[in-house]
This record gives sequence, structure tokens and C-alpha cells, in this order.
Amino acid sequence: MNALLNRLEHGLQGLRRQDLWRHRTLCQPLPNGHVRRDGRDMLSFAGNDYLGLSLHPDLQPALADAAGATASPLVCGHHRQAHALEQELAAWSGFDAARLFVSGYQASLGVIPALLGPKDSIFCDRLNHASLIDGSRLSGARLRVYPHRDMGRLEALLSRPGPGLKLIISDSLFSMDGTLAPVDELLTLCERHDAMLYLDDAHGLGVLGANGRGAPEHFALTQAQRRRLIYLGTFGKAAGLGGAFVAGSATLIDWLTQRARSYVFSTGLAPAHCAALRACLPLISQAQQQRTRLQHLARLWQIQADTLPWPSPLSETPVQRLMLGQPSQALRLSAYLAEHGIWAPAIRPPTVPRGQSRLRISLSAAHQERDILRLADCLRQAPSFPNTETSAP
Ligand SMILES: Cc1ncc(COP(=O)(O)O)c(C=O)c1O
Repeated sequence: MNALLNRLEHGLQGLRRQDLWRHRTLCQPLPNGHVRRDGRDMLSFAGNDYLGLSLHPDLQPALADAAGATASPLVCGHHRQAHALEQELAAWSGFDAARLFVSGYQASLGVIPALLGPKDSIFCDRLNHASLIDGSRLSGARLRVYPHRDMGRLEALLSRPGPGLKLIISDSLFSMDGTLAPVDELLTLCERHDAMLYLDDAHGLGVLGANGRGAPEHFALTQAQRRRLIYLGTFGKAAGLGGAFVAGSATLIDWLTQRARSYVFSTGLAPAHCAALRACLPLISQAQQQRTRLQHLARLWQIQADTLPWPSPLSETPVQRLMLGQPSQALRLSAYLAEHGIWAPAIRPPTVPRGQSRLRISLSAAHQERDILRLADCLRQAPSFPNTETSAP
């Protein structure tokens, strides 16, 4: 008799019954957009290595230095590699200062509660990433959710009188939809309502902007606009490594250094990791060809997807999706592709809303045109699954 384990066993059985069980596979990245998954070589559309940098030879020597950070930077000192990286990041992203975090998830859990409390209000796009929602909940601030990219509704919510500070929170490039937040309009609303914008650029960094400097570069944000911005960049996707940084005004970063609990109470990024990230920044800036290629592959995919029985809503980004509807349909199509040596993961609730299970197709500059054609051909020959309750937004 063990009440806790009984509850967990029950919960796990429920997840299996609803096709919401998440299965972990052993996976090793290989060149050219392939992976070895459970011992089998597959063409992968699963990862977010958008620029194909994760196996870049320039990053390996830095990573070979095994030294760890050993404690929070506030306890055991701040390593010169981390210090230099923070300075380079501030200059690279165009902000006064930057602070490193171990991951994007940890950054949001630390930053949002450090800035706001129960008397304040957060305005959150309905499709924001889970880390933004969790950080918002942790702050205790009043959470107001607006429909995806609906600026009219957001303005109506901002106009309601209420005490405290206002923070708008948004992904830049939405991770499961491939849509872009109207960052310039969000900042105009911030100015009008004396709000700040916390922008999660996890999928934009490296991909958006001529030099890969993310949403601020893509939207050509002015210094005045940037003063309303708290910017989160992560290194687990286009940078091919892992870790994150928050950038903004010097005051903001000083405050986070004192009060963001996931910074203060967590061991910093290993110096070797910081050194590899320093080597990565110029690679991202120089990856113009890869970004052009990604746009080309996205257009090619959209043309191919038009001939498929499932909707693939328009996106010019490497984040593409095929809307299936029910979890079981997404699982079956994903399993069918896997039988044919292609990995495109089924994305199900709670990652996406109910009735909107999908295949997420993540494009990489490491892919060839023939990879996209192979994926589309394989999907065209898939057995038809009854399509119930599909609702692409
Ligand atoms: C939009 C978005 N924000 C934040 C995160 C979390 O970043 P990290 O993987 O660095 O924790 C992710 C992904 O994993 C993401 O997709």
C-alpha cells in the first residue's frame, strides 16, 4: 500500500489510455539532419537545430574543456568565460546588459516573479510556451490571457483600470505554430499603456533578422522601443547547444542578478559551455546562407503540403505543422513515418490545445531539398486516417 505510487500508477494508465503517453527514445545527432534513434538512422524533422550548427567543428574544442561552474556565480565567483559571453551577448543583441541562465525555462521561472507580484498584471498570448505561463503563475500576478496575436483584445484588456504594473508576455516565433508575434505592435501598446514586454525569442534567435539576431533585428527595433523590452534568447535551438540569456537595461539586469531566484540559487553554465557559446555567436551572424536556405525549404514544404490531405497553415519559418486533430491520428501518422525512416513527432495536449494535435515539422539548413520531397512523398502515400475534430487556427 503506497498512496502516492498508486496515484501515479493511475495517472500513467490514464495518459496511456488517452494517447498522451510520452515515449523517450535514445537519440544521437548525425550530420545532414539525420539522427540515430533507438539504434536506427532516420531523417529527422524533430529537433530545432535550425542552422545545422549543433555538430559544427568550431564548437568542439571549447566543449572539450571539462571544468564545471561549481556553484552559483554569486557564491563561487563569476568565470571570465561567462563574463565575456555576457558582455558579447549584450553587444550582439543590442542591449545595455545581459545575464546568463542555465536554460530558457529556468530564466522565465526566475525573471517573471522577480519583476512582478500579486498586485500586478500579466497579459499573456494564449499560445505562449509553458515556461512563460509557469513563470507568470509563480509570480502571483493577475494573469489575463488574450487570443493568439489579437491586438484589439489585448488593448481592451490593457485599458481596464487596475493597480500595479503591467507586463505583456509573448513568444516571438511561436514554437508549435510557426506564427510571428507582432512585436512592433506589442511595443506600441506597451508605450501607450506604460507596460513592458517580456519577449521569448527561443525560436527567433539565429533564424530571424539578416544577422540572426532574432526578433529585435527582424523588426528593426529602435533604442526607444528596446527600453520597453525584456529580451530572452535561448541557445538550445538555432545555436545548437543549450543555455539562455536575458538582456535589457542595466537596471533591469542588476535587479535580476539580485532577485531572479533561478539565477541566484542555481549553478551557472560551465565555463566550457560559455566558451562554446562565444564561438557560436559569430557562426550565427555569418549563417546568412543557412537562413536563405531555410526560407527556401519552408516555401518548398508549403508547396508540397498543399497536395496533402491535412492542413499545413502558412508559415515562412522553419516551424511547420500538419494539423491532424486527435492525438491518436497524430501518433499513427508519426509512427507510419517512423516505419519509413522519417521522424516527425506527434505534438499533443497539453503542448497544444485539445483537438489540435499535429505533426511538427522542424526544418533545418542541414536538410536537402530531396529530404522535403521524401517527407511529402511518404505522407502522400500514407493510409487515410479518419479526420475528426481538426481545427487549425
Ligand atoms: C518558446 C520557448 N521558450 C522557452 C523554451 C525553453 O527553453 P530551454 O529549452 O532553454 O529551457 C522553449 C523550449 O524548449 C521554447 O520553445
